[in-house]
Amino acid sequence: MLRELVDLQPYNTLALHARAAVFCEPVSQEELLAALSLARSRQLPVLPLGEGSNIVLTRDYPGLVLRLRDNRIQLLREQTGTVLVRVGAGLNWHQWVQQSLDNGWYGLENLALIPGTVGASPVQNIGAYGVEVAQFIDSVQGVYLDSGEAFDLDNKACRFAYRDSLFKQALAHKTVITSVVFRLSTVPAVHASYAALRDYLAEHHADEPLTPTLVMEAVCAVRRSRLPDPHLLPNVGSFFKNPQVSPEQFVALQQQYPAIPHYPGEQGRVKLAAAWLIDQCGWKGRCLGPACVHEHQALVLVNRHGASGEEMLALADAIAADVLARFAVRLEPEPWIW
Ligand code: EPU
Repeated sequence: MLRELVDLQPYNTLALHARAAVFCEPVSQEELLAALSLARSRQLPVLPLGEGSNIVLTRDYPGLVLRLRDNRIQLLREQTGTVLVRVGAGLNWHQWVQQSLDNGWYGLENLALIPGTVGASPVQNIGAYGVEVAQFIDSVQGVYLDSGEAFDLDNKACRFAYRDSLFKQALAHKTVITSVVFRLSTVPAVHASYAALRDYLAEHHADEPLTPTLVMEAVCAVRRSRLPDPHLLPNVGSFFKNPQVSPEQFVALQQQYPAIPHYPGEQGRVKLAAAWLIDQCGWKGRCLGPACVHEHQALVLVNRHGASGEEMLALADAIAADVLARFAVRLEPEPWIW
């Protein structure tokens, strides 16, 4: 069950080399608790990894790395128009989206093809094409790493926000999520107003009725055309969050750059497209050593030539410095940096 000194390169989508002192893939709650109790007795820190699609490893991990294996799907309750479904943390996210659609449980179509696991999805409240997973989460179950005690938090308690949750704030690095309960609709409904999605549907499927299946196909096509597949070109999706600025700063920026893309942000702020800011600074498709900016999406950094975590970060720092100098906007990394 436990392995020592394991190279994590196959377990993170940036394909970075870093060794875990101890590595474990528990298949049951008992195995998970046994591994946590061993970590406590050896005073090891614990890192739940998922599929490693949102982490930048810059050095070895001196503790226990966990990859949960539970991938069960359990229908808990069916009421008029909705279902409650518990899903094991280890299930691949896209497989879950596909299976939910196959079962006639709607809502997750816009989140198709996002790399990672079900257990990781609440941590940064994954989102794409106008939808965030928080809209469909009923509750999140897991275990506190220090005590092994179980928790069950409802949606409100998870404090979801844009690419954020309690699991990135007060509970950061303190829990492992073991399952998520989703509330999905049995009545087909579609969200297709996001510009890139709307344009694709208008161009390719103008005369067809909008169904959840069609929306999912469109999301997959749009993602495949812009975002690199981490299996083919190592990456962690967006490397920065879209920054949010005050209305005053936005007005000043818009006067100077009338084409600046913008969206409603949180608490009256204005959300800017980090990809556009980076693109304007001329970084799209450019490299710094072995670390590169993707040629179709400036927000995605790719490990094209066997870069180290430090080299990926050097590129990210250079980009953030240019964006700050030109727009006075600070970019924050989206993945977790170790
Ligand atoms: N743009 C550029 N240059 C580029 C790419 C985009 O100028 O190289 C402009 C586009 O023209 C558009 C704007 O930037 O006006 C936004 O681009 P896009 O619709 O591609 O979305 P994004 O804001 O760059 C976000 C998410 C993605 C998600 C897409 C689609 C974040 C940090 N990223 O990207 O999520 O797939 O919207 O909903 O919120 C991820 O989190 O890993 C991720 C890929």
